[in-house]
Amino acid sequence: MEKNRHHIIQLKEAFTENDEVIQAVKAMNDAHFEATGSRRTHMTVTYGCQMNEHDSEKINALMRFMGYKRVEEAVKADFILFNTCAVRENAELRVYGNLGHMKHLKKSRPDMILAVSGCMMQQPQVVETLTKKYPHVDLVFGTHNLHMLPRYLHEILRTRSRHYEVWDIEGLVIEGLPYERKLDLKAYVNIMYGCNNFCTYCIVPYTRGRERSRLREHIIEEVTRLARDGVKEITLLGQNVNSYGKNFASDYRFKDLLHDVSQVPGIERLRFMTSNPRDLGDELIDEIQRNPKVVESLHLPIQAGSNDLLKRMNRGYTVEKYLGIVDKLRQRIPGIGLTTDIIVGFPGETEADVDALIDLIKRVQFDSAFTYLYSPRTGTPAADYPDQIPEKLKHQRFERMLAVLNEEVIRKNSRRTGRTYEVLVEGFKDEDQGLLTGRTRENHIMTFKGDKTLIGGTVTLEATRARKFSLEGRMI
Ligand code: SAH
Ligand code: SF4
Ligand code: F3S
Repeated sequence: MEKNRHHIIQLKEAFTENDEVIQAVKAMNDAHFEATGSRRTHMTVTYGCQMNEHDSEKINALMRFMGYKRVEEAVKADFILFNTCAVRENAELRVYGNLGHMKHLKKSRPDMILAVSGCMMQQPQVVETLTKKYPHVDLVFGTHNLHMLPRYLHEILRTRSRHYEVWDIEGLVIEGLPYERKLDLKAYVNIMYGCNNFCTYCIVPYTRGRERSRLREHIIEEVTRLARDGVKEITLLGQNVNSYGKNFASDYRFKDLLHDVSQVPGIERLRFMTSNPRDLGDELIDEIQRNPKVVESLHLPIQAGSNDLLKRMNRGYTVEKYLGIVDKLRQRIPGIGLTTDIIVGFPGETEADVDALIDLIKRVQFDSAFTYLYSPRTGTPAADYPDQIPEKLKHQRFERMLAVLNEEVIRKNSRRTGRTYEVLVEGFKDEDQGLLTGRTRENHIMTFKGDKTLIGGTVTLEATRARKFSLEGRMI
């Protein structure tokens, strides 16, 4: 499959409220083309998670409809958008840094439009900083009003004024916005937005609003369209997929959705993210076990290794409950791939908490983990806890934990040689050497020798050699 081709996904029930403004902007841009011989261009820079990636895909489709050509270099773009993430301070600092660089560009090309959107914008103190210190930013919008982009852009092009607008609402589900995606074997599909869990460290419930689920028929229609485009693997996305459908009057729930999505012709593999241990029930384990399309792989964030911390994080489960789920999963779905998220340096954390976390890492034997240093987020309860851990200590503890984690992950991976795996072949890792790459159902990365015709298909491989975090294999 040609990885770099983009195309538009537009579902039956189109969002048409924008049509008139889209046409108006397009007419302005067409006039520019007539006059200058060149198309106006746009560039989107995306930070953060798959939710943001998908929002950017919607923005890119709207921009294309408005007559913009996509480019990948800031110096060539007439419209530059930073779609931002607020989950940790690092992500925010990078955005401020890049916005700073844009000052020069804007000075040399005053006609260029600079826009900032996404989760950072849902925080009033950020918008205030932009207003005061980044006057070269022309457009600001948040996560709840990205469908309004054509209107804002139209206004700016007409009046050459700044437009800052962020909606402070619980959240909408806007269906029918087109989006521009790369042609690929794999696709992410949002099944819900927002979060109601309010883990005490986390900004997401404030930036994405309340939890709300998409209707079954919209999800199925989207997956059907994707499957017709050649997609074979779907990852269903939500901050907590286990509470899918809780806002419905019916008792249609996540396990039912998994079942229905897996019936869509052409879909071979079904993954989902994120499953919160707090409400992971037996019915989900049953569905993973019984449904051949649902892969043997689960991302199950633990965050901390002691009950005291879990409680103060408001995670809603204990270490015992977590281990109970892991045991049940391993018993009923042998070989299941388990990954997790870990935070080190949460306020009040002691060396004993870190020891407990390390014990838990040894006990569970994760296949891999995303590890984070705790980052205080303004407006979240934990940011105001008095017992913040000094940066240096956070780093020391992080290194201590990571050394054990890496050792365990590498050791576990090394034991996979000799086993066989089903791999969905994604493409070349190294075309000159004829080296292909793909993922197993358990989500391990495997490379092997083979030819182009295998791309897009499924092969059975024997793991012949373990690298640190991936496997080499051969076809059998
Ligand atoms: N809804 C998902 C997580 C989304 S955020 C879940 O509950 O699992 C992804 C990860 O970022 C979280 O799992 C957590 O490990 C990390 N994270 C979130 N807020 C953080 C913060 N303030 N500091 C450090 N890590 C954080
Ligand atoms: Fe954040 Fe917790 Fe919601 Fe995940 S479940 S998005 S960590 S508040
Ligand atoms: Fe995602 Fe970052 Fe927002 S992780 S939901 S883009 S705060």
